[in-house]
Amino acid sequence: MKFEKLCGGFGVETRDIDLAAGPDESAFRELCRAFFAGQVLVLRGQELAPRQFHAFARRLGPPEPHVIDQFHHPEIADILILSNVIRDGQPAGLADAGTYFHTDYSYLDVPARATLLYSIEVPKQGGDTLFANQYAAYDDLPVSMKNTLEPLVALHRYGNRDDLDQASRTVASVLSDEQEQKMQWVRHRIVRPHPVTGRKALYAVSGSSFGIEGMPDDEARALLDELKRHATQEKYRYRLKYGAGDVVVWDNASLLHSATLTDPGDPRTLWRITVKESGPAPAH
Ligand SMILES: [Fe+2]
Repeated sequence: MKFEKLCGGFGVETRDIDLAAGPDESAFRELCRAFFAGQVLVLRGQELAPRQFHAFARRLGPPEPHVIDQFHHPEIADILILSNVIRDGQPAGLADAGTYFHTDYSYLDVPARATLLYSIEVPKQGGDTLFANQYAAYDDLPVSMKNTLEPLVALHRYGNRDDLDQASRTVASVLSDEQEQKMQWVRHRIVRPHPVTGRKALYAVSGSSFGIEGMPDDEARALLDELKRHATQEKYRYRLKYGAGDVVVWDNASLLHSATLTDPGDPRTLWRITVKESGPAPAH
């Protein structure tokens, strides 16, 4: 299998795998190695039925259906349909999801290992995903800051701490009262060793982190905002462009990511599966 780098820092792509056929054990191990080393893995030109996409995702970890259950795929609830298409007056999927830097499922106690997107309909313009490398962002911090952060635990909850306006396109997708009730405060270290590679990374310093345990709110917020500014600098970023049929897998423990807004009249559809860190890590 030949992998090519997406950019200088991180991310790899290949055209040498057909996920519909179901990679054998050795091909799967090779994909996992490329994934954990590369942080973003792009498998171009796939043609997948829902169950084939799901079968591949399950090998990476246990899928966790999204709390927004009105856009689950009718055949497989673990697939969340992301789409701006309106069909017969009804939205075909969740639109404008995650258009701010965040980490998927950082608001859950056992967070996401990987998110997989299968690109079905690509807009004429835009629709890129931005990734920011949180290994590099951590590595570059001054030693004094690393020491300050080492013992700190952030408090997370579903939401975008920088935009709580429910009418905004960059708010976290709005939950029903019933969905909201399922959400709780959870704790994650700010400097979080990657559960597979062991390498330290800044964890979810943008998005769901609203406070720091044992620290006054204003002080905590100022520190988190400072870390966010640092961690999302251009030098840590990569902008991924999608082709139809691309499957993109990203490592939530070492990246922040952000969707970008598209023209609501320019159709775009993706399927998403997110797998959690519970269960054994796949071969790597
Ligand atoms: Fe996301």
